This record gives sequence, structure tokens and C-alpha cells, in this order.
Amino acid sequence: MMSIHTDNEEVKLSSSPPDKPKLMEGGNYIREGRDSSKSTWLLFSPATPDEAGALAKFLSVFCSHGVNLSHIESRSSARRPGYEFMVECEHGVGDFGAALDELKNNVGYLNIISRNYKDNRYAVPWFPRRIRDLDRFANQILSYGAELDSDHPGFTDPQYRARRKYFADIAYNYKYGQPLPHVDYTKEEIATWGAVFRKLTELYPTHACKEHNHVFPLLIENCGYREDNIPQLEDVSNFLKDCTGFTLRPVAGLLSSRDFLAGLAFRVFHSTQYIRHHSRPLYTPEPDVCHELLGHAPLFADPAFAQFSQEIGLASLGAPDDYIEKLATCFWFTVEFGLCRQEGKLKAFGAGLLSSFGELQYCLSDKPELRDFDPETTGATKYPITEYQPVYFVANSFEDAKERMIKFAQKIPRDFGVRYNPYTQSVDILDSPRQMKDLLREVHQEMNLLLNAMDKL
Ligand SMILES: [Fe+2]
Repeated sequence: MMSIHTDNEEVKLSSSPPDKPKLMEGGNYIREGRDSSKSTWLLFSPATPDEAGALAKFLSVFCSHGVNLSHIESRSSARRPGYEFMVECEHGVGDFGAALDELKNNVGYLNIISRNYKDNRYAVPWFPRRIRDLDRFANQILSYGAELDSDHPGFTDPQYRARRKYFADIAYNYKYGQPLPHVDYTKEEIATWGAVFRKLTELYPTHACKEHNHVFPLLIENCGYREDNIPQLEDVSNFLKDCTGFTLRPVAGLLSSRDFLAGLAFRVFHSTQYIRHHSRPLYTPEPDVCHELLGHAPLFADPAFAQFSQEIGLASLGAPDDYIEKLATCFWFTVEFGLCRQEGKLKAFGAGLLSSFGELQYCLSDKPELRDFDPETTGATKYPITEYQPVYFVANSFEDAKERMIKFAQKIPRDFGVRYNPYTQSVDILDSPRQMKDLLREVHQEMNLLLNAMDKL
């Protein structure tokens, strides 16, 4: 889930504008981060490899400027011969700027990673390097799931609000590596799911892309997708992991675009677990488990779509804010509201469409405007979030969309390349000749493997 969007059966298919549910203007807030927003990470190595007493010398710099360090680590450098050091500096104590200036004059390599990158011209926005770093997002939520807007269908229902808090707390306390908590859904919740499931599955054969229609029966077979059962995130996540390595992770509320997209770099999709209010089963003002499991999950089982989604995530790591906005917009017009052409016919693959009975019909009618997907122009297009989209972007294929996204990512101003390492589930930063050589060696090995296999054909 990334942002609020409509799934509104009551939006008319005529040209008259629908009543817009109010957005959470002013209602959003950022929960103060316990850790990463209050600290800056520095990664540096001595000017001379294996300089004796280097760590003590550098630590004295922080000490002399009164800067507290909450983490100190030394390790062999992937970039240069010898060691490098990684420290986490606490904010608000001592003169961090002066310490940084002194450090810069005495090191051979320096990389500054900070949530507060806007205050620091040297810094790259902080981004997760290992999959378990995603745990940090749990307390960076924009609007906690238990707090509903006054026009939310469940606003005046204390039982529903308590239930939402229950789900938000599950996600808030979740840590990487734990099994996804099993939820016993109530009869009322299952009936709501059933109403949505019944209506949408009527449309899928004619309206959904072939990849969605290919995977959906497998979800019925393997993950308990049924009218009378809300599938468990754990089962769906395990299924996706077997197909493409994608996993689901519960989320307590809305994440910032930067954090949400970063999850995709690790093939992790942040997913809600609660369900919409029973009074309006075909409407939800925010993503819920129907949207995630009926709209998103099937496509993440498709290798080309998974790769495309991960490319958006990798492009976002350490990118400047304006590019984050463009990437989030590309995500919106593809993963959320994308159309594609298959065998001469227009089909839906966006989750916002595949989870909305009304918009799934509307998007394939002659009402909306269609444009070709191109990250440069698509990423700069404004869109409404509380009504049907006036414009949809059409992809030729997921492969083509991925290639376009990779080309677009090359324009992002970053001093480094990024590569996902599936063995360690971490992101390698490529910013030195030594790393490039290692990568070339790996590519060479893969090429040999391919040539050998071809010889045997
Ligand atoms: Fe979504």
C-alpha cells in the first residue's frame, strides 16, 4: 500500500464529477522515528590503507566536537584495500558539522547517509541496505491505521476502530523474519470479503490481463482464495516467494513514497491486513486486504512484473526527492492503475483497477483517455486520488515497461549504482572499480554457464 485511492462503486460513469470523499488533509502526521531520523550514518576509510591507530584517530575527531556515537563498526572494505569504518552519529549533541568537516580532510573515502539529508549538502538520503532494515519503517508511518477520518465509513463504529487498532498493532510490532501473524477474521469481515470477491471474479476473465488470470486459479488452489475465506498473508507471501521471491510484510498505516518504494527493491510488498467497513463492501477510502490480495498479489507472482516492480524500487534508493515523486507516479500509473494491450485488446493489470468493481469496467470503456507508458512523461503526470482516473497509461508488455524503467533510472543523479544481492538479501552499492571488476567476473561466469548450456542443446 502506498497512498490513498478510490475503489468507489458509487462513482458514476457519466462525465459529471463524482462527490469527492475528503482526503486526510491535515490529518496526516509523521510519527517521530526512534532512531534513523535522529541520526546520521558515516561510512569512511583512512587515506592510507591499514593506517595504524586509524580508528582511535577518527574517534577522537567526534570526541573533540562532542558528537555522540551510538554505533561503531570496522570491517574490510569492498571499495578499497584495507578497512573502512561505519559510525552512527546522534543528532542534537555536539557540533556535527565541524566534526564532518574535519573528517572530510582526513579520509580517503566518505559516504554520508541520513534521513535529515536536506540539512546536509553532502548527504545521500538514507535507504535500507539489508532486508531487515525495513523494520525501521514501522515507526515512520504517515497516519496510523487506527485513526480514521471523519468521513470514513467506520468512523462512528467503535468496534471497527478497535479492530483497526488491533491490525495496526500487529504490523507495528512485526519484525523481519517472524511469521506473518495469522488472523481470525470475523463472520462479518468474511462476508465483506465475499461480496467483493464475488463481484470482481465475475469481471476478471474479460477485464484482467492474462498474467492475473493465469495466477488467480493457483491462489485458489494454494492459498485459500474463496468467497467464504479471507486468505492469510503468510500463505500468500509463501506462495509469492516460491514464484518470484516477493514477500508480503504487514504495514500499520501509510508509508512515505520513499520508504514504500524502497521495500520493492528487496522484493518486499508492504500490505495491509485489515478489511474495509462492512456497511459499504464495494467502497474503501484506503487500501485494505481486498485490494492487496485481489489486486496486487496475483501480479507479484509473475516474473516479469516482479522484475519491473523491483526496478522501480532499486531506482528509488538514495534518489533525490523530485525523482522519488516521479517514480511514485510511475508506480501509480502502472502497478496501481496500469493497462496493457494483449492480443489487440486492452486489459487491466493495476491493483487499483483489479480491486474495484466500478473502475475495472470504467477503465476499459471509451470514457478515459489512454496514453503510452513512458516513465519520463508518465512520471510527470498529475492524477486525482479520490475519483476514477481521467487518464490511463498503456504498457506494451511488462518486459517493455521494465526496459523503459531501467533507462529512466539511469538519468537519476546518483554517484553510485545499486544491485540487489539475492543471496544476502541486501543491496550492493557499486561505486568503486574493484566492485565493478567483481561484477564483471560474475557476469562472465553467467555467460560461460549460458554458452555451456547452449552447446548441449
Ligand atoms: Fe495498492
